[in-house]
Amino acid sequence: MGKNISITLFGESHGKGVGALITGLPPHIPVDEAAIDRALARRRPGGRYDTTRKEPDPWEILSGTYRGKTTGDPLAIWIPNKDTKSQDYEHMPYRPGHGDYTAHVKTFGADDPRGAGHRSGRLTAPLVAAGAIARGFLEKQNIRITSRVTEIGGEQSPAAQEKALEKAKQEKDSLGGIVALTITGVPIGLGGTRDASAQSALAHALYAVGAVKSVAFGAGEGAARLKGSQNNDPYIEENGVVHTTTNNAGGILGGITTGDAIEITVAVKPTPSIGKKQHTVDREGRNTELEIKGRHDTALVRRIPPVLEAAAAIAILDLWIERQKEIALHQIIGESQ
Ligand SMILES: Cc1cc2nc3c(=O)[nH]c(=O)nc-3n(C[C@H](O)[C@H](O)[C@H](O)COP(=O)(O)O)c2cc1C
Repeated sequence: MGKNISITLFGESHGKGVGALITGLPPHIPVDEAAIDRALARRRPGGRYDTTRKEPDPWEILSGTYRGKTTGDPLAIWIPNKDTKSQDYEHMPYRPGHGDYTAHVKTFGADDPRGAGHRSGRLTAPLVAAGAIARGFLEKQNIRITSRVTEIGGEQSPAAQEKALEKAKQEKDSLGGIVALTITGVPIGLGGTRDASAQSALAHALYAVGAVKSVAFGAGEGAARLKGSQNNDPYIEENGVVHTTTNNAGGILGGITTGDAIEITVAVKPTPSIGKKQHTVDREGRNTELEIKGRHDTALVRRIPPVLEAAAAIAILDLWIERQKEIALHQIIGESQ
């Protein structure tokens, strides 16, 4: 996930459990267990339109902390699976819209097909737990990450969204949606050009979350229809502070954070697993029809906000650490002049 922090998610949806191995976390970061609990509770399904799979997520940290703080050594989080129904998947043909067939080809047939194995949304649980640690530290630097679902099935009002969700559920179909993600308190100067870009680091982290189909910053696609005079954010100096009067850039210019809020719009596709009949191919390569009986979210976009926040938190922490190295180096060079 960047230059400093590396995070490896491991496990399978219907295996023993899922986890995260994080390296590069600085020592002495407090690990707030209640914050991890809260973050996992937010990700957990529970509503009428969410999967009925009930996972209590009894997480534990296996390494990398001592007396409630990070040691700076690899930190491993483990979350056992408790509610698996593998028989739902025993003879399931490749699900359209999911990663079943691509994974089967990629692994030369060695893939675990139960609930998408390693490619399941279940893998977002350890990401959220890891994100809670990053986030706790960022909050101490006054960096805050929030998000909200602004659209489900093309509908913006809660009443229209509810109606669309109910209809999709009755029709054994699913819906996509849009999430607005905001990161405030980010100092000016994080990121850089090309591979060091804050925009590409955040995009990479967010696109790595399953079902994310577009990530846009600021005016996003709308910028293509604006004139330069409309899209540019004018600078103004007030009480010795230079800032902009608008934020079409979405908080990043030249790959570097501007000090304004980072505004990101994320488009999420409809849940691939649907009960409605679909044409597909079975594991023997024969044409067939599929009506999925397993437990799935009607609109996974409802569950994705804490996951996107966690991915963004890890990306921002990585950029922040890199910036501290630049500042420290500058101070050394400045002093020696
Ligand atoms: C929080 C979350 C929950 C998800 N729940 C489901 C689900 O219940 N059923 C399903 O088929 N896909 C679900 N997905 C989506 C799949 O994981 C994803 O579409 C799949 O891995 C294919 O990857 P891609 O859509 O990025 O190409 C979920 C994803 C996330 C992030």
